[in-house]
Amino acid sequence: MKMYLFYLLLVSVSVHIITTSDLNWYEERNVKENDNITLHCDIRGHEDVAWYRLRSSSLTLLISAQKTRTIKSLPVYYNYDEKRFILRPNSEITTAMFTILKLSQGDLGFYYCGITAEPAQMHFGKATKLQFQDKIEATTVTQTTPSGDQVKLEDKWNM
Ligand SMILES: *[C@@H]1O[C@H](CO)[C@@H](O)[C@H](O)[C@H]1NC(C)=O
Repeated sequence: MKMYLFYLLLVSVSVHIITTSDLNWYEERNVKENDNITLHCDIRGHEDVAWYRLRSSSLTLLISAQKTRTIKSLPVYYNYDEKRFILRPNSEITTAMFTILKLSQGDLGFYYCGITAEPAQMHFGKATKLQFQDKIEATTVTQTTPSGDQVKLEDKWNM
């Protein structure tokens, strides 16, 4: 059901997403409560960058920034939680780094970085799923396939 909503959402905002298989449309990051985490996004050739969180079928804009033309900088123009969200570029302004301080239950979910070159054309990369370490151990089963590859089975999403 959540998967369906996710695809509906992507289609409705006409985004371009590349998935090679259903299994790796997101990357998992195992975190602990009160940790800080930094997510990276390649912004070469793009003007705007934004991070969104998908959780319980709602997509929330967390932070966004736009490159300046004159001096090399990436000023933030929207920040959902100024106390805990930080967006900084690297020195070349080719990568945007989004830091979330003091993670709590409310931060769990799927994170998307969106980059725009022209208005109305936003591209999303692979999602990052934030999950707490202790919960994964309780809800996942690891199986070994005949070829020796590890396959992770999750009976429900822990978010
Ligand atoms: C998270 O970042 C804050 C501010 O930079 C720092 O004071 C704190 O020690 C960091 N916490 C962890 C768990 O690394």
